[in-house]
Amino acid sequence: MRGRLTVGLRSLEAHIQVRILTPQHKLALISGERQNIVRLKLMSDLLKITTQGILYPKRFIEGRLKKSTKTISSLKDGEGAILTVEGKKVAVYKSIGGKIDKLSPVCKHLGCIVDFNQKDKTWDCPCHGSRYKADGTVFKGPSKKNLDKI
Ligand code: FES
Repeated sequence: MRGRLTVGLRSLEAHIQVRILTPQHKLALISGERQNIVRLKLMSDLLKITTQGILYPKRFIEGRLKKSTKTISSLKDGEGAILTVEGKKVAVYKSIGGKIDKLSPVCKHLGCIVDFNQKDKTWDCPCHGSRYKADGTVFKGPSKKNLDKI
C-alpha cells in the first residue's frame, strides 16, 4: 500500500513539474534527434514570421500600385483578376458557367491586396498566406473572415 502511494505521489509530482516547465525546459526533456527536429521547426517558423514581417509593407503597397489591363468582358471562364472598376480595385471571378463574382480584394487579415491563383482558382494573399475560395470564402488563415462581396 505504501509503495503504491509513493509511486502515485511521484507521478503527481512529475506531472506538476512538467506543467510548470518553460518551453526551453520541455525541449531539454525531448530526446536528441527529436530536439533537433523541434529546433529546426522553431527556426523555420521564426524565419517565416521575420520574412513576412519585413516584406509586409512592400507587398501591402505593391498590391495597391499594380495596374490591370483586363476588363470584366475580357475574362475567360474560370479566370479571376484584380480589375479597376469605376476607379476602385475589385476582385472579379468569372465561373465556368459565366457567372461573375465581384469581391473586395482587401485581405481581412491586415489589408493586403489578394492575387488570383489561376491553377487552384483561389484568391491568395501575398502578405501572410491567407487563402480564399473563388467566392471569397476563407479556407486558410491567418485571416478568419471572408472577403467582402460587392
Ligand atoms: S494581410 Fe495578412 S494574410 Fe493577408
